Amino acid sequence: MAESTKARFRVIVLASQKGGAGKTTLAAHLAVAAEAAGAGPAVLIDTDPQGSMSAWWNVRTADSPALAPVSITELPKKLADLAQAGFALAVVDTPPAITDAITAVVRAADFVLIPTRPSPHDLRAVGSTVALVEEAGKPFAFVVTQAKPNARLTVQAVTALSAHGVVAPSIVHDRVDFAASMIDGRTVIETDGKGRSAIEMAELWNFVLARMDESTKVRKNEKKVQHG
Ligand SMILES: Nc1ncnc2c1ncn2[C@@H]1O[C@H](COP(=O)(O)OP(=O)(O)OP(=O)(O)O)[C@@H](O)[C@H]1O
Ligand SMILES: [Mg+2]
Repeated sequence: MAESTKARFRVIVLASQKGGAGKTTLAAHLAVAAEAAGAGPAVLIDTDPQGSMSAWWNVRTADSPALAPVSITELPKKLADLAQAGFALAVVDTPPAITDAITAVVRAADFVLIPTRPSPHDLRAVGSTVALVEEAGKPFAFVVTQAKPNARLTVQAVTALSAHGVVAPSIVHDRVDFAASMIDGRTVIETDGKGRSAIEMAELWNFVLARMDESTKVRKNEKKVQHG
């Protein structure tokens, strides 16, 4: 693969061991938000046997983002093919578990986003996901999801998560339109592009993009130091 193609194509993985944290919702929304921001074309990859993202994509009428059927064993090769095919971004949804398959997916990531609800159960469970991502040496960040407005729990969650890593400043609130928009294969960006939920998604994409750029810079500087 040409070096220039490699540098442009990026793989974002949504991971959290806790079920229902918002991985699938955010994977689909981030891909659409990235394309809306001109950072596409994006391709979605569903590695969850539940197949929720594929089911969403199957009822979607818009042509993009694309969905690529990929088995874990062929993931690295498939990602290289997708980069070659001209995609700028892959967004990968994963199941709520810690398995060898997820470890393999995280190894292929340029950036891992860990959605976490502001609940004590979710916060306690976050350690195993962080351990997996750190083991793979991948840049990651948390995003607080399904937050109730003005809840003290949200502030506490941000504080607790900050002890483990960077937390996205764009909190994703608990709003029915996130779920409702996905019923017929859309996202909040398409049902109400100027609404608060769509703004949160645009902000989240900007944050993820900035973090990816930042970690690329750090890696380049590390290489420079190594090579003197
Ligand atoms: N910000 C939100 N506001 C309201 N509902 C939400 C929000 N995010 C997700 N949901 C709803 O919460 C449920 C779980 O979300 P989602 O399926 O995205 O989580 P998940 O982490 O992919 O779950 P699983 O671990 O089972 O794969 C879904 O019913 C979804 O519609
Ligand atoms: Mg899911």
